[in-house]
Amino acid sequence: MPDPLPARFASTEESRAAWWRDAVVYQIYPRSFADSNGDGIGDLPGITSRVPYLASLGIDAVWLSPFYPSALADGGYDVDDYRDVDPRLGTLHDFDELVAAFHRVDIRVMVDIVPNHSSNRHQWFRDALASPPGSPERARYVFRDGRGEAGELPPSDWPSHFGTSAWTGTQDLDGTPGQWYLHLFSPEQPDFNWDNREVQLDFLTTLRFWADRGVDGFRVDVAHALKKDLSEPLRSKPAFVDFDNPLSGDDVLFDRNEVHSVYREWRTLFDEYDPPRFAVAEAWVRPERRVLYARADGLGQAFNFDLLRADWDAEAFRSVIDQNLEMARESGSSSTWVLSNHDVVRHATRFGLPKGTDLHSWLLSNGVAPALDRSVGLRRARAATMLVLALPGSTYIYQGEELGLAEVADIPADQIQDPIWERTAHTGKGRDGSRVPLPWDPHLPSFGFGTGGAHLPQPAWFADLSVGAQSTVEGSTFEMYREAIAHRTRLHTSDELRWTSGSPSGVLDFERPNGWRSITNLGTEPYRLPELEVILSSGPLSGQFLPPDTTAWMILHGTRANSWTRELPTGS
Ligand code: NOJ
Ligand code: CA
Repeated sequence: MPDPLPARFASTEESRAAWWRDAVVYQIYPRSFADSNGDGIGDLPGITSRVPYLASLGIDAVWLSPFYPSALADGGYDVDDYRDVDPRLGTLHDFDELVAAFHRVDIRVMVDIVPNHSSNRHQWFRDALASPPGSPERARYVFRDGRGEAGELPPSDWPSHFGTSAWTGTQDLDGTPGQWYLHLFSPEQPDFNWDNREVQLDFLTTLRFWADRGVDGFRVDVAHALKKDLSEPLRSKPAFVDFDNPLSGDDVLFDRNEVHSVYREWRTLFDEYDPPRFAVAEAWVRPERRVLYARADGLGQAFNFDLLRADWDAEAFRSVIDQNLEMARESGSSSTWVLSNHDVVRHATRFGLPKGTDLHSWLLSNGVAPALDRSVGLRRARAATMLVLALPGSTYIYQGEELGLAEVADIPADQIQDPIWERTAHTGKGRDGSRVPLPWDPHLPSFGFGTGGAHLPQPAWFADLSVGAQSTVEGSTFEMYREAIAHRTRLHTSDELRWTSGSPSGVLDFERPNGWRSITNLGTEPYRLPELEVILSSGPLSGQFLPPDTTAWMILHGTRANSWTRELPTGS
């Protein structure tokens, strides 16, 4: 079992419990992080071997995407067994060693909980298929008779996230067509019936299993989907658009009010631990509804995905920031900031494409049309990262963004792994381009990811962005992340933020306690900086001017901790 918690964890009661409020959390996609045994797949010992790297980055916590046994129909989000490690990724003993290694350097560990669906190889789903309609085994999932004379049509018009129907027909033991089961994602991901007490209790057992092993927190997959309106006749819902569910909480499939009863029960369990276990909801809901997931009697925090959809535009960023800080006040939680994750096109690429680019079509063009300006993208990505790191709340970093990685848009069709590709008849390329194994060393095979190649092809341009090419190189993206996180850890003391007045449109300029000031130029003209000491900038400055697509952090000397500066110089 993991070592006892190190000294820093045992500071005051309150800060121990609230570590997550302003944490910098690093997301690891385990299969693509580091491969210890040369089979081309990243694994737990690989992650443990890179703990010094993550410690040197200065992060507070890691979140591991699923590492459970899985046929990888959806990158591990199809879980065969919630309380084990995929043998290709290691063992439970490896997991305990990983947790101990992170705790030794004061880094907390979060794991991904996937409660909406299991995989079709999960024992319960096998049992369900082997049992008759109406049996307790089937009641753990959502089985229904088909429509049409012989039940040949799906029970409702509900679509799957990954294309076509959310229902798949089964065969009875004698080979005749049987009932249909529900899957909001791929057919290999049957949805649980969350009205079933056995399902509810089994997830409590899973949460306890990992919490007892020393896990500090949980990221909850599609937290808004667990409860559906399954009353007969099933209501129609032919299409869904994320973020578009009604505010009433009475959508057929998503963000239903009763989902919070699940999380209230989880919270009671989390609070039995000392310090209480932490959780963050992945809920693609309207911003106003996010507050319900973030409340202290619920999961406690919710991802804010608004910046994944924001253009490089000062007004867009500012309104996202204001709205989220307000919602944090309302929920009593803290804000979260996300620029990249394993489901979206990396931000160094998004910000290098013309405004309004349809990312799906761009990926389908293999990243050719419209043309990507990689240097603009990276410049803006760095500026955006420093901007969000200066904000109150916690920041979620996705592996590789600290290297300035761009999306790999030209993965050949025959190597695509994402189920979206097949399920959409090759009209959606999916998310593999953000999941390519990391480049560690410019000179080694598979750029040091492992000795046996990489499970997705790495482009030649990874060499210049590898850890080895950037580490200790002044001004590199990696060194910028390290420095920014170190300053933030030192300067951040409370959730307050004040916009300064008088800056032109296109410039985001705010002050935090301790005389810490962050200015981002999202406009097209250089901006004259106030006469303060610059402690870090995301790109070169021209004298006293902040060029477009750049963030500078400044500090007013002589300010006491927790005090605000009085007169704010506003530049001109
Ligand atoms: C959200 C995860 O982030 C994504 O990768 C996955 O495909 C779906 N949930 C389904 O589990
Ligand atoms: Ca491996």
